Order: sequence, then C-alpha cells, then structure tokens
Amino acid sequence: MYGLKDKLAVVTGAGIGIGKSIALRLAEEGANVMVLDVDAATAEQAAKEIRDLGRKCQGMQVDVSDFTQVDTAIRATLRSFDKIDILVNNAGISPMGLLVDTTVETFDRVMRVNLNGVFNGCKSVGTHMMENKAGKIINIASWFGKVGKHSFSAYCASKFGVIGLTQSLAMEMASHGVNVNAVCPGTIVETAMREETDREAIRLGRLTAKQRESQIPLGRVGLPADIAKVVAFLASSESDYMTGQALNVTGGLIMH
Ligand SMILES: NC(=O)c1ccc[n+]([C@@H]2O[C@H](COP(=O)([O-])OP(=O)(O)OC[C@H]3O[C@@H](n4cnc5c(N)ncnc54)[C@H](O)[C@@H]3O)[C@@H](O)[C@H]2O)c1
Repeated sequence: MYGLKDKLAVVTGAGIGIGKSIALRLAEEGANVMVLDVDAATAEQAAKEIRDLGRKCQGMQVDVSDFTQVDTAIRATLRSFDKIDILVNNAGISPMGLLVDTTVETFDRVMRVNLNGVFNGCKSVGTHMMENKAGKIINIASWFGKVGKHSFSAYCASKFGVIGLTQSLAMEMASHGVNVNAVCPGTIVETAMREETDREAIRLGRLTAKQRESQIPLGRVGLPADIAKVVAFLASSESDYMTGQALNVTGGLIMH
C-alpha cells in the first residue's frame, strides 16, 4: 500500500475503464477523489462507488478538451479542498483509420482530447501545485507514444505529444516540488476503448487483443488494475526521486 490518506486526487476520464480503476485504487490507498468525465452518468456512478469506500468524492461532467470547463471544475474543487495533491490525466479516445480515411476533424478531435486535454489539466492543476510547492502529475500516454503504428497516426501523434509534454513540464516543475511522469499502457482489456479497437480490428481482418496475447513476453494481456497500481506508486512518496519518466506497463511489449 502506498499511503495516500487524506490526499486529494483529480482523475480525468474516470467514469469507466482504466481511469475508474485508477480512481478506485487511489481511494483504496486513502485518497479523496474528484472524478472528471465527459459522461455525467458514469462519473456519478464511479463517484458513488468511491464514496462507498468511505472517501470524499464527487463526479463532475467535464470535457477535458475545453480549458474553461477543466479550469472551472478545478476552481470549484479548490473552494471545497485547500489543495490538490495528485492529478491523473487519463481521458482519451483512439479512433483507428488509415491516413486516407482520417478526416481533418477526426485528427483535430484526437489531438484536442488526448493532447490538449493533458495540457489543460497540467495548466490548471499544475499552476496550483507549483504555488503549493508540492504535487504529483501522472499522464496516461501509451506504448503507441513511443512507436508508430499502422492505422493509428492521429492517436500515436497525440501520445508522442503527451510524452514530450511530460518531459518538458517535469523540467519546468521540478524546482517547484512537482513531479510529472507518464505511464504507457500496453494492450489493456476490459475497457470500452479496447472493445471498440477489437471490433474495428475484426472489421479490418486484423487480430484482436486476445489473439495477439502470445506476442506479449509476460504471456497475458493487461488489466486496468495493472495500470492503477503503477499510478498509485507514482502518486506516492515512494516515487519522489522520479520525474520526466514514461513507464511502460506492457508485459514487456516494448522495452525502451
Ligand atoms: N485500453 C488500452 O489498451 C490502452 C492502451 C494504451 C493507452 N490507453 C490509454 O488509457 C486511457 C484510458 O483508456 P481506456 O481503455 O480506459 O478507455 P475507455 O474508452 O474505456 O475510457 C475512457 C474514458 O475517458 C472519457 N473521456 C473520453 N473523452 C473525454 C473527454 N473529452 N473529456 C473527459 N472525459 C473523456 C470517457 O467517457 C471514458 O470514461 C486513455 O488515455 C488511453 O489512450 C489505453
């Protein structure tokens, strides 16, 4: 256990999937959690499950691609709590498609959610953390942020961007007591994004996640909880001497 008692965490895209698993794990570690998601119903459901653990938690409907919405939610949070200790920028989308089939609007939307969304969270919460001289920011990138992939040009571009943003902000914030790291999940199942990607893979005659399982050195696909436990570590004082890192949690799919 990583001992996050009475810390306040903000997790984006926490209504379902990896984000929800992260929010629940941070709550199990003792943290109070703000659940931000574009989907109000799932945000409230996740918040209820966290309150059932005995933590303070509120679901907030926020589109991370819109800075004003993010900043308004953070200002509201800071009226109820005196500080934010942990920010997890997890919200993301991953439409598949060849360049010839990817519209300008789709490319722009992926960048706005996956990259601008991380910037928006870092700007709003990071500024507060720097003033407070303490904080942990964890950005959920992807192993597709380290290697280009067929049919994922927009997604890869956005996730490479998240790692670059993480490294730059780690340098800017280090002297202000704020650690900024990224986590790069591999093939994680039991999420809506994975189900959608598998459906698209079948349509295109490609292999699903399960069918590619034998290519993973540790011999299995990942689960949201595999990501959540690494995020809990990065949110804790156990990782105080780490910043600017992009940690692969892929079962060995990638090693750099
Ligand atoms: N599932 C995987 O295999 C995998 C692999 C690598 C990286 N990731 C990354 O992990 C993160 C979570 O993925 P997941 O598989 O849990 O996805 P998911 O689709 O299951 O969940 C994503 C959540 O983000 C929310 N969201 C989407 N757009 C939003 C917006 N504009 N503002 C606020 N919330 C928004 C959704 O409502 C949903 O609750 C993403 O950043 C994704 O790129 C996932």
